[in-house]
Amino acid sequence: MDYKKLVAERLGSVIELEKDKIEALIEIPPNGDMGDYAFPCFQLSKVLRKAPNMIAAELKDKINVEGFEKVENLGPYLNFFVDKGSFSKNTIEKIIDLGNNYGSSNIGNGETVCVEYSSPNIAKPFHVGHLFSTVIGNALYKMFNFQGYKSVGINHLGDWGTQFGKLISAYKRWVDEEALEREPINELLRIYVKFHDEAEKNPALEDEGRMWFKKLEDGDQEATALWKRFTELSLKEFNKVYDELGVKFDSYAGEGFYNDKMDVVIKELQEKKLLTESNGAQVVMLEDYNMPPCIILKSDGATIYATRDLAAAMYRKNNYNFKKSIYVVGSPQALHFKQVFKVLELAGHEWAKDCVHVGFGLIKFADRKLSTRKGEVILLEDLLREAREKVLETINEKNPSLENKEEVAEKVGIGAVIFTYLKNSREKDIVFDWKEMLSFDGETGPYVQYAYARAKSILRKIGEIQGEVDYSKLSSKEEFELIKTLENFNKNILSALDKLEPSIVTRYSIDVAKAFNKFYNSHSVSNLEDEGLKIARVRLIEATCQVIKNSLDLIGIQVVEKM
Ligand code: ARG
Repeated sequence: MDYKKLVAERLGSVIELEKDKIEALIEIPPNGDMGDYAFPCFQLSKVLRKAPNMIAAELKDKINVEGFEKVENLGPYLNFFVDKGSFSKNTIEKIIDLGNNYGSSNIGNGETVCVEYSSPNIAKPFHVGHLFSTVIGNALYKMFNFQGYKSVGINHLGDWGTQFGKLISAYKRWVDEEALEREPINELLRIYVKFHDEAEKNPALEDEGRMWFKKLEDGDQEATALWKRFTELSLKEFNKVYDELGVKFDSYAGEGFYNDKMDVVIKELQEKKLLTESNGAQVVMLEDYNMPPCIILKSDGATIYATRDLAAAMYRKNNYNFKKSIYVVGSPQALHFKQVFKVLELAGHEWAKDCVHVGFGLIKFADRKLSTRKGEVILLEDLLREAREKVLETINEKNPSLENKEEVAEKVGIGAVIFTYLKNSREKDIVFDWKEMLSFDGETGPYVQYAYARAKSILRKIGEIQGEVDYSKLSSKEEFELIKTLENFNKNILSALDKLEPSIVTRYSIDVAKAFNKFYNSHSVSNLEDEGLKIARVRLIEATCQVIKNSLDLIGIQVVEKM
């Protein structure tokens, strides 16, 4: 049962206000002493020309309290206390019934949401910023699906631009085939860097690089085959990371995919008289919107990043008919997306308003610097490996007889990394600090995973248990707080989607783990005389496990049964 709706319904029959409006006004009081739901009477006071306190007192006498323990007026508020027994029963049974689907809804009505994330650059290292995009996008992707939308996950690979001409030219001159098979990205990076060094001495190389890119744009066979090979080799490496994280995409249409889809865009902008010449380039002027011009064609006639993004946006609209199109890309690119969306709007595409840039902050390390390019490659691999190794160390120290240690270390280690990314609002910079992120008693992944494993071990110890359950026995403050938190899952997901902020669900998982620990530290379960109470507590723990599992799953983290 949705108690908020019930509160709104009861209020609706005694005040003159639409139910939606009433529902929007209902608040959740900061502590249980003030009830579970509160209705502020300030708004009514204007219409009724009475003091809000008086209105609250009058409403208290009129309202139907069935299903509630009591309804009280406190100052300008009318406070609703739900009937704990039926609230607990409804909530726990619903969770156990729905299992992995608990928290889901059909609010999305099957409408499509495009979520673009990860989008690393071919032949370049997959760095910690791409990992940030990957975990945010993956979480949003899952949450939209969970709420009845149809998510389309897009990896907009950076696989186009003059640098690929240079890479072809470098390949033909200096590649070490063996190294390329062994460590593709390192080798591609090496010859690319060499190209730049050599071009300083021999500027003709630049022309050669441009020539190869031109050939690539024109569909030349040799150029295309090499470009495809670079892409495949790079993707093979990127896929290792995706597999490790359990991340999937529905489309890998990168920038190159739009090579033959840009003429239409340019023609459209011409027809709509949006293109202006500026120093030989074709641009859309955006000074009226306080932005620099958006370059569409460079002076040599080549398209650029923004042109491909315009083509991609239109393609996504035509192909998926999205309700929303999300771009999870670092905040430094905020201006780029503002420009692209503005150009779409000026070209008369009213759906430009449905395109959203979801930015995120920078990544810093507490005990290391992130400086050289090469450092970044090692860093990402290191990051995941170090996480695994450090967790394994802790396990060997605390629980050396644990089975499947490696597997647990993998899930907990990677979980800790993902958790660190998704713990705070995404626009904030992140500081990776191993000690902090792997701690079992901070606001960390291991803390939440440990609460789950601990709860599971209690259930294992008690074993199967059947019988009459009396949920009204879950009457302590700790029990009711936990149940209320469990009930709040869906609202947290909806708010995460509304703000495009997965951290809301991450923090929610911490809240559940904290509420569980509080409950478990002050109430025993296994050695209880009262069978009815014991079963009720077991069911509560089962429900808690389910909610932790579902919430971690939404942010891309797997639970472990033992740790
Ligand atoms: N490949 C780009 C980078 O690594 C990110 C692509 C962002 N997406 C887009 N549609 N422009 O910076």
